[in-house]
Amino acid sequence: MTQTLHDAVGGSPFFARLVHEFYERVWQDDVLRPMYPQDDRAGAEDRFRMFLEQYWGGSTAYSEQRGHPRLRMRHAPFPVDPDARERWLACMRGALDVVDPAPLHRAELDDYFERAATAMLNRNPLI
Ligand code: HEM
Repeated sequence: MTQTLHDAVGGSPFFARLVHEFYERVWQDDVLRPMYPQDDRAGAEDRFRMFLEQYWGGSTAYSEQRGHPRLRMRHAPFPVDPDARERWLACMRGALDVVDPAPLHRAELDDYFERAATAMLNRNPLI
């Protein structure tokens, strides 16, 4: 059996650190921060960490607690335009620089986040 990326990068502690570093950056961003629950950063960290662990082959706690991800639908209330997408990705790249996974895993994670962030776009600033 091939190893999941979840296990290859170090399991739950890796994702906990990644998500923590990510939110450290989101909370410094004037455009992103107001979209997030101001008094529930810990809850937001938990939800994102559980989602990522599940996506990459770890625990299925996310779906047990939150149901089907339906991420595009869940993001509909938040104005994700190209600027927000780029800011979000900059926060994620900064977090990945800190947790520093092996190059092959970094490439896979970068590719996934780029595509997922594009899928979340829901505002066109030109109209
Ligand atoms: C939740 C913003 C991209 C995964 C949220 C929340 C905000 C947000 C404001 C609510 C926080 C909470 O209460 O949990 C954004 C913005 C994005 C973006 C501005 C820019 C592109 C992504 C991407 C992913 C993702 C690319 C997946 C790789 C999630 C998950 C949740 C979440 C799993 C929690 C959903 C739940 O309620 O169960 N996002 N997001 N987001 N986001 Fe994003």
